[in-house]
Amino acid sequence: MNPLHHVARWAVNQKLGRLRWEAPGRLADGVRPSRSFLYIHVPFCESICPFCMFNAHKLDRRSSQVQDYFEALKRELLMYEAAGFDFGAAYVGGGTPALVHEELARFLEFVRGRFDLTEVSVEANPRIPDAAVQSLAAAGVDRLSVGVQSFDDGMLERLGRLEAYGSGAEIRERVNRLLGRFRIVNVDFIFNLPNHDPEVLARDLQIAVDDGIDQLTTYPLMEAQQNRGYVDRQGRISYDLEAYLYKRVILPTLREHYTPVSSWCFSRKDKPEVDMLDEYVVDYFDYVGIGTGSMSLHDGRVSVNAYTLPLYQRLVAQGRLPVVLESAPLARRDYMLYYLMMALFGRRVDCKKFEAIFGVPLRRALWPECTALRAMGLVYARGDHIYTNERGMYVFLMILREFFTHVNRFRSLAREASHRLERQPAAPKLSFEPVLD
Ligand SMILES: C[S@@+](CC[C@H](N)C(=O)[O-])C[C@H]1O[C@@H](n2cnc3c(N)ncnc32)[C@H](O)[C@@H]1O
Ligand code: SF4
Repeated sequence: MNPLHHVARWAVNQKLGRLRWEAPGRLADGVRPSRSFLYIHVPFCESICPFCMFNAHKLDRRSSQVQDYFEALKRELLMYEAAGFDFGAAYVGGGTPALVHEELARFLEFVRGRFDLTEVSVEANPRIPDAAVQSLAAAGVDRLSVGVQSFDDGMLERLGRLEAYGSGAEIRERVNRLLGRFRIVNVDFIFNLPNHDPEVLARDLQIAVDDGIDQLTTYPLMEAQQNRGYVDRQGRISYDLEAYLYKRVILPTLREHYTPVSSWCFSRKDKPEVDMLDEYVVDYFDYVGIGTGSMSLHDGRVSVNAYTLPLYQRLVAQGRLPVVLESAPLARRDYMLYYLMMALFGRRVDCKKFEAIFGVPLRRALWPECTALRAMGLVYARGDHIYTNERGMYVFLMILREFFTHVNRFRSLAREASHRLERQPAAPKLSFEPVLD
C-alpha cells in the first residue's frame, strides 16, 4: 500500500481530532460580515442507498414534512441575513433536492430576492422528471449534478439502486436527455467498492466520454458510521485497488477529453464554460450551511447543524440558530494548511491570493510543507501558481478521502448530540462535551 496513505490518515486525524468543541454562540458574538458561499441541505430521497454517507430521509409526501422544512430553511436564512451575511453562490445538496423541485424553485426565488447569486448548483437522482428539469432550469440553476454511480446493472444492484433508479441503459438515456438543459450537467460515479472490477469502471467512464457528458465526479467509496455494515458485507476496502483504479483506469480514460478541475472532478476540455466545481469548499474560503446536519466554516470556526428534522425545526421555530456543534477558532497556521490542502485538491494554489488572504508569502508561512511537497515530486511551480501533477492529484485524493471520512465523524457527533437534545424539554441548553468514537 502507498505509505502516503498512512501519513494522510494520520495527519488528517491528528489535525481534525484536535478540534475543540465549544457551546455554540457564534452569531451572539457578532460576525465579521463577508461574502460567503451558501450550502443548502435538502435531506429527502425516494429511497435510502445502503452505501450513502449523507444525512438523508425517505420522503413522505403524505405529511407537510417538505413544506415545514422549507419554512425552517427560510427562517434560518433570515437569521444569517440579519447577522450581516451576504451570499454570492449556492449549492443545494442532499439528499435529493431535485425531488422536491416545486418547493425548491420557490425557495431559490426567495433566496435570489435577498442575495445576488452568481451560480446555483443542485443535486438530482437519475429519475428526475421533466417537470423538475423545467422548473429548475426556469429557476436559473446553472449546474445539475446527477448521481449515476455506474451504468452497469451488476454494480447498480450491489449499490442497492437498480430497483430504485432503473437499469444502466435507462439511466444513460435519461442523462443524455439532460445534456444541454443546464450550463453544466455533472455525473457522479463511485469507485473502489471492495473488488471493484476495473473493466466495469473503464466501461462506465467510456460511456460518459462517448456521450460527451460535461463534467464527471469520481468519488472513492468513503466510510461512515451509517454505512459500516454495508461496507463490511461487501468485503474490505483496498487502497491498493483505489490507487490502481485511479491511476490506471480513471486518469487514462479521461485524459484526452477532460481536464481535472480537482483530484476527483473532471470537466470536458471542449467546453470552457464548464468551470463550476463539484466541491464548493475548494473555491470558497468561507461557507455557511443551512438545513439539517449542514456544516459551516466561518471566521475560522467549524460548526454543525442539528441533525434530526424535529430538533432542527424546533430550534429554528424558537428563533435560535440550529447549530449543535461549534469548534474553537482554528489556529492561524491550521487555517493556512486547510487553505493549501483545499487549493491543491483543486489542482492549484495561487500564491498571490494566499498572501493577500494571510498577509504572508505561502513559501515562508508553510515552508516545511512546500519543501516536502516539492521533494516528494507531487507539485510543480509556474509563475505565481503551484500545481499538482498526477502523483500529487492522487495524494490529494487520499487526503480529501480521509478528510471527508473524518468529517463523517462530526456528522455522527452531531447526530448523537441531536438525539440527546431532542429528549430535553422545550429549550435545550446547547452545551455539552461531545465525545469522538
Ligand atoms: C448526496 S448524493 C446526491 C445525488 C443523489 N442523491 C443520488 O444519489 O442520485 C452525492 C453523491 O455522493 C456520493 N456518495 C454518497 N455516499 C458516498 C460514500 N459513502 N462514499 C463516496 N461517495 C458517496 C454519490 O456518488 C452521490 O452521487
Ligand atoms: S446516495 Fe443519494 S439517493 Fe442515495 S441515499 Fe444518499 S443522497 Fe439519497
